[in-house]
Parts: sequence; C-alpha cells; structure tokens
Amino acid sequence: MCGIVGYSGPQSAATPLIEGLRRLEYRGYDSAGIALGVSGKLFVAKKAGKLANLENALDSSLPIVHSGIGHTRWATHGGPTDRNAHPHVDNDGKLAVIHNGIIENYSELRTKLEIRGHVFTSETDTESVAHLLSDLRKEHKGDLAAAMRDAVNVLRGSFTLVAIHADNPDVVVGVRRNSPLVVGLGNGENFMASDVAAFIEYTKRAIELGQDEIVTITPTSVVITDSDGKLVTPKEYEISWDAAAAQKGGFTHFMLKEIFEQPKAVADTLIGRLSDNGQIVLDELRMTAEEIRSLKKITVIACGTAYHAGMVAKYAIEKWAKIPVEVEIASEYRYRDPIIDPGTLVIAISQSGETMDTLMAVRHAKAAGARVLAICNTNSSTIPRESDAVLYTHAGPEIAVASTKALLTQMIAVYLIGLHLAQANGQLSDDQVQHLYRELLELPGKIEQILETVEPLRELTRSFSENNIVLFLGRNIGYPVALEGALKLKELAYIHAEGFAGGELKHGPIALIDNGTPVIAILPAGHEHALDEKMLSNIQEVKARGARVIVIAEEGAHVEGAEHIIRIPIVPALLQPVLATVPLQVFAYEMAVARGNDVDQPRNLAKSVTVE
Ligand code: AGP
Repeated sequence: MCGIVGYSGPQSAATPLIEGLRRLEYRGYDSAGIALGVSGKLFVAKKAGKLANLENALDSSLPIVHSGIGHTRWATHGGPTDRNAHPHVDNDGKLAVIHNGIIENYSELRTKLEIRGHVFTSETDTESVAHLLSDLRKEHKGDLAAAMRDAVNVLRGSFTLVAIHADNPDVVVGVRRNSPLVVGLGNGENFMASDVAAFIEYTKRAIELGQDEIVTITPTSVVITDSDGKLVTPKEYEISWDAAAAQKGGFTHFMLKEIFEQPKAVADTLIGRLSDNGQIVLDELRMTAEEIRSLKKITVIACGTAYHAGMVAKYAIEKWAKIPVEVEIASEYRYRDPIIDPGTLVIAISQSGETMDTLMAVRHAKAAGARVLAICNTNSSTIPRESDAVLYTHAGPEIAVASTKALLTQMIAVYLIGLHLAQANGQLSDDQVQHLYRELLELPGKIEQILETVEPLRELTRSFSENNIVLFLGRNIGYPVALEGALKLKELAYIHAEGFAGGELKHGPIALIDNGTPVIAILPAGHEHALDEKMLSNIQEVKARGARVIVIAEEGAHVEGAEHIIRIPIVPALLQPVLATVPLQVFAYEMAVARGNDVDQPRNLAKSVTVE
C-alpha cells in the first residue's frame, strides 16, 4: 500500500512531509516523491528507490514553503521508476496529485483526456487523475475541492487522493474511497495521511474520513463535505497509540494486521476482473482463445505457502477448464528433467518475486520453450520481469515473514485464471463463469464474518500452547489447507506439525495419535460430494485414540466428535480454502504469541529466500 502525507502550516513543509513518509516506510514502497506549493509554481521531486534518494534530490536552494504533499509508492500500474513515482502533475505544471489504491477506469479516462490534448508522461493510473482534476478545477474557476468532488463522481475503483495547486498553495484537498485517509489537527497546522503514524509526533488529535468525503485543509481550517458538497460534521478522536503501534494500525503484530487486511486484499485483487459483457478480464495472460485451446498442460511451480496456492490451482483449473495441471516444488522441478514443450503453460507463484528456487525453475522452463505466467505481489520484481506475463495480486506489502494475505490473493488469482481458461475454451458457460465470479466477490464479506468470530478460537488455542505436535487433516481441496495450517504452525510456533490427506491417516500417520494429541480437521463442503462423511469417520478414528479435535466446518454442517467447531460461511467447494485457511492463520498466530515467539520475524526464516 502506498504512503500518503499532506501538510499545511508554519513549518517548512519538506520536514513534516519527509518525516511523515519515513514513518510510513514500513508499508513497503519502491519510489517516493513530494510536491511543494511555491506561490505560482510547484516544486516536485520524485525518485525511484528509497527515501534517501528523494532527500538527495531535494535542492538545498529550495525556498521555505509551508504546504505540500508526499508519497511513497508501492507499484501497481507501471514499474518503480522516477517517471511513475508520485506526485503526478498536470500539463500546466501547477496541479499535483498523489494516490493510494486502484483507479479501475483509468484507461478510458486517459483516452478521453488525450483526445482533449493532455499529454501523459507515465504508465500510471494516477496520472489520469492529475489531468482530470486540472480540467475540473478550471471549470470550477480554481476551486480544487469542487474539482475533487466532481472527480469522485467520475472515478471507479478504490482510492485515496490528495492534491495541491500552485495558485492556492496553502490549500490541500483529499478524498477517500475504500482506502484510508485521516486528518491530523495541529495548532496552526493541519495534516492528512494514509495512517496516523505519519503525523502522530505532531498531534494525537485526528479525524477519520468517511466514504467519498472530501477534506480541505489550510493551516487554520479543516472543511469536510460529501461528494454533493454538503458539509459533514467532523468526528474528532484522540489517537491512543504510540508511533510503533500506529505503524501496525494498532495491532500487536504485522501478521495480525495482515490477517485482518485480507478482506480488502481479496477485494482489491478482484477489482475490474469482469468486463461489462461478462467476460473474465485477464489481459495480462496475453493468450488467444486458440492458444488456450491448444494448451496441453499447466505446470505450477512455487515454494512454501505459495506452493499451497498452486495445489488449489490444480483442483480449480482441472475442474473448470479440464486442462491437466501438475504442481511442482520449485526447488525439485528443474532437477527431475520435466517434460516441457510449447504446449506447456508454466505458472510461477511468488509473493516476493525474488525466491531463488522459483526463479531458477522459471529460467529452466523458459529455456525449454514454455510460456511462463507469474503470479506475484511485488511489482517489477525479478520473477515477473523474467516471465512472459504477470498477474499481480493486490495484497499490498506483506511485512510479516509468515504469508497470509498474499496467499489468499494468490488463490484468487488462480481462480481467475481457471475461470478465464474455462471461458476461453468453452468448458464453462458465461453464466457459470459469472455466477462463480459473483461468489468470489462475496468472499471479502465472508472473511470478515470469520474474523469477527475468532476470539473463542484465540482463547482455545492458548490451551494447546504446551503441545509439541499438532496434526491437520483435509480432503480434496481441503488438503492444501491442511498443509498450509501445518506450515504456519511450524514457522510460527516452532511446533512439529503435519498436514495429511484424511484418507492417508490409516496408511501410517494414525500411529502418531496419542492421548491429547490436537488434530484440526477441515470438513469438506458436504453439499457437493460425500467426502464430509469420510472426514467425519476420520474424526471418529482419531478421537477414539484420544485426540482433541477441532473441526472447521461450514455453517449448518453436521459434525460429531469435535471439542470445538469453527464455523465458516458456505461457499462453492472449490472456494472453501479462502475461508478455511483464515482460522488456521489465527491458530498459528495465537500459538506463537502464547509461546513467546517473535511472530513477525520467526527464528531462522527470511521474508524472501534469495538463495537456492
Ligand atoms: C510462508 O509463510 C513462508 N514465509 C514461505 O513458505 C514462503 O511462502 C515461501 O518462501 C515462498 O515465498 P514467495 O511467495 O515470496 O516466493
């Protein structure tokens, strides 16, 4: 997620802006920039890379100015370059805007604005807003807030926008839709930011903006209206966090914050993925229907948690698109002389885009003539750059080593690919695809429902904190979920945890069951096949041998033998992993906390494993 700061007041604006951006560095970024209102003209500095690059670019001869906007960018549309860094300015060079989020209709906007004569200099969705605001401000005879109100009624997507104009430099205007913007109320100075961490050292008095609300700040005023221009009474509050807590949004750990960011991450990854005529939009794949129909097989390569997303891909793509899918551990792939030919599509899944095992597998596949599609969360990282195409997830920076929101968005990505392939090769009708896409759109709300009911699970988890073995059982598409639950527990609680296919229990693992052994069973979605009955038998088998059984089951599903049942909303069976994974993330998190481990930086682990 990008970092946003706005300032208007007596200080030399560069100071609170740069300090604010420094406080937001934890959000992850790949470029930074500021725009300062210097009466009649703008001073804009923006640089790819770290904040230090921007500071070095700040001309020491810069006059003291008292308002401005600042931005740290986490690249989505367009790579991390100086040109794509924010702020973006209009052709007059007088209006600057910064943005966090996704402008869904930026492309059609850009076409209209180019026809009106606007000249674009970047590949970003944000630049369309700079030119749009420039036109609208002129229509409103210099009223930037009125221009912003009109812009809100034109833009689609999720966004926080903050803008200034050189002709009224002490006026900073912001708006938010599905993306945060808070106002900081100082003494003779006011702030705007994507989160309070940016200005908490100057003031703890804040105002949270509501959906589509436009705020205008000067050193001595804060005015908020709705998108119709009606005044909104601000709801001021006192920030109770310190700066460190503010960076985690008030959560104790980044991992917990990122677990709770999953509804938004999934929603953002789904934005704009169904066209007006009901087609899955996956232009990134760059494959014609003909090429898709000629696909002989798909090989998914990944490591760790990303590998589990790859296993979900196998179930979904084979079921929907009827294309054979093999899932390979990246570090094993190239050493087994895999069968690769031009009819092979390789999908490389990686949150960081830098995992060396996966990168080396990508290189091997490309050298053998396969087309490679990357699914990645980090714009312009190595794996997407070396792939033929890339589908970016929009989870935002994932700070905790244990991958959570990235995994759920990887699952969404593979579902979109499965639906796109099935629609292109005719295995699913448009109605079927649109129905499943609507089911995907309901997932963020259903994840929210689970997160609202996790307290009892967190309580229960602490009663297992002394255990040194935990087993996870899953069947069908619940099997990757069992593996992921075990991996989370390994990497966070340092517990020997194993995930099994339920049917495998009797072929050996059941010997592990002892009195009090915790077993977590993911009950398959019974409304689509009778596998739930087989899992219920597995539960009886382990219970009879003394296991303490936690069951993850759909609302209304019949369950026997469980000490605790975690209910999840009903979804089509293939989508269940998105929901069933969430309680397992919370379970692993709580076990790590109970055992006093370093949750965000577990021992021996790195966020990105850049060695083979
Ligand atoms: C997941 O919680 C782990 N941090 C690890 O398994 C990770 O998924 C794996 O190293 C792959 O990383 P990548 O997605 O960045 O390629």
